[in-house]
Amino acid sequence: MGRCASSLRAVNWTGRITAPLGFAISALVFGAVAWMGARESGASGLSQDEFAGPETCRSCHQAEYESWARSPHARATNSLPENARRDPRCLRCHATSVEQNLLGVSCEACHGAGKYYWPSYVMRDRELSRLVGLRDQSPETCKTCHTADAPSLEPFDYDKAWRQIAHGKKSQAPAGK
Ligand code: HEC
Ligand code: HEC
Ligand code: HEC
Ligand code: HEC
Repeated sequence: MGRCASSLRAVNWTGRITAPLGFAISALVFGAVAWMGARESGASGLSQDEFAGPETCRSCHQAEYESWARSPHARATNSLPENARRDPRCLRCHATSVEQNLLGVSCEACHGAGKYYWPSYVMRDRELSRLVGLRDQSPETCKTCHTADAPSLEPFDYDKAWRQIAHGKKSQAPAGK
């Protein structure tokens, strides 16, 4: 009897999922699975056609965009010697996506490819945005490029480096605090 009651509850529960909601859920699950499969490709671990580009981010994050545009990251491809600007060994760290002609180290090199998370309703949802590509930031993000071989006189100091490129709500304090 107990088993009958519980299977009845299960039927009721699925029966109550409306078609549009069911569709939205499958679209989401499909999208997330496709994304997780695709992110394994590409040098940066992101698929090359999933970037939105910094101009897309700019439409809602003008202040962050301006701060970034002044930073050395925006110039990271152009500051290379001419012959190195097409060299994948250098562009691995000096560009966001060669295939999509996304030069410089732009928003998505740190925040993750934004094709699926940039719409407002996704951006406002902490979990959904992360499920479809928005990355949490940590010093590890920086250290994928700021390695011991990078031509720096001093070892990478996250708090100090963050202050040089700070933007967003935590632009006055070190990130992660
Ligand atoms: C259509 C407008 C829009 C676009 C385009 C957009 N964002 Fe956002 N973004 C938002 C909104 C709204 C929030 C939530 C702001 C808040 O809660 O203070 C947000 C939040 C964020 C956050 C903080 C999210 C969190 O949960 O910690 C980051 C990081 C971010 N955006 C980066 C980006 C990047 C990178 C791009 C480009 C790929 C981008 N955004 C494009 C509207 C947008
Ligand atoms: C592992 C990531 C990585 C790779 C690969 C890489 N770089 Fe860099 N490069 C960096 C980082 C990070 C900096 C900034 C170091 C700093 O100042 O703290 C940098 C800085 C530079 C600078 C100084 C830029 C300036 O404005 O002063 C030059 C020039 C440069 N790299 C050339 C190259 C060339 C040429 C190649 C390919 C042969 C290359 N890099 C490959 C990460 C990398
Ligand atoms: C070099 C890596 C890097 C680049 C490039 C970069 N960001 Fe960020 N961004 C960060 C870090 C780190 C934080 C601080 C995150 C934290 O600790 O909350 C941050 C914070 C933000 C926030 C605020 C999140 C919040 O809740 O306060 C927004 C919005 C944002 N970035 C958007 C952008 C946009 C738009 C661009 C490009 C125009 C960009 N970022 C480029 C690393 C980067
Ligand atoms: C995709 C690779 C990449 C990532 C990720 C990255 N950087 Fe960079 N960063 C570079 C390159 C390349 C340069 C050199 C730019 C130039 O001058 O040509 C640089 C330069 C800088 C500089 C200027 C150094 C100087 O001496 O002028 C600072 C500060 C910096 N990065 C901070 C950060 C921080 C903080 C993070 C993480 C939140 C980060 N970067 C993530 C590639 C990266």
